[in-house]
Amino acid sequence: MSDYNTLVAVTEATLKRIASDFSPAVLASSLAAEDMVLTDMILRAKLPIQIFSLETGRLHKETLGMLDRIKETYDYEVKLYKPDPAAVDAYVKAHGLNAFYDSVEMRKECCRIRKVDPLNRALTGNKAWITGQRRAQSTTRAELNVQEEDSAHGMTKFNPLADWEELDVWNYIRVNKVPYNPLHDKGYPSIGCEPCTRAVQPGEDIRAGRWWWENPESKECGLHVVDGKLVRIKSVTPSN
Ligand code: ADX
Ligand code: SF4
Repeated sequence: MSDYNTLVAVTEATLKRIASDFSPAVLASSLAAEDMVLTDMILRAKLPIQIFSLETGRLHKETLGMLDRIKETYDYEVKLYKPDPAAVDAYVKAHGLNAFYDSVEMRKECCRIRKVDPLNRALTGNKAWITGQRRAQSTTRAELNVQEEDSAHGMTKFNPLADWEELDVWNYIRVNKVPYNPLHDKGYPSIGCEPCTRAVQPGEDIRAGRWWWENPESKECGLHVVDGKLVRIKSVTPSN
């Protein structure tokens, strides 16, 4: 078997094992390419793994359009988790809609409200969660394992694509005709919220377009544990 075929077989086996030994388990999908690979594997094998997305209220229309593509292709409705409207209102009133450009602290506070808190709700009651992270994506993911204990959430976390290269992801999408976010064809290798994601130039790092105004070390939104520690998000008290 080629490396690619082995990767696919191993990943499918991992997902089967999660479904049988770690139920209930959920896939956190940002609706980007990696998560579409896992979505395709889960739905085609009819594995009992629920797929959810954190609908931050600031996603591109192309990203939201993937919800319809998934419904059309697999007849599956992705479960959406949204931020607490009162927390969003308080942040916007105190700091402004786009205060995340002002400081790392303000950015992490916005991510806490729009992503981290809804993630905690989405994970409640599960035995494991699955992400589409890959080791090759960034320096902060260099130590990523396929299976790890997520002590912050008190459950097992799987990164079944940890060993995959970008090329493998696109091979899988092409071979299996998996629907994907059209932004990927417009220079967006990595896609988050609209105001915090830009296209990258050829040769630029694949995460260069995420929170591009920050240093590489701070470019995580708090969804993921780095080096065994949770990336601490300091709470910012709204000033009156
Ligand atoms: S981030 O931490 O920088 O935002 P990235 O976009 O690389 O993460 O995605 C890594 C993994 O985090 C995705 O494969 C997915 O499992 C999860 N994730 C990121 N954003 C979301 C989202 N909006 N909804 C659900 N899961 C997400
Ligand atoms: Fe807010 Fe940007 Fe984080 Fe989205 S990525 S939650 S808009 S700071």
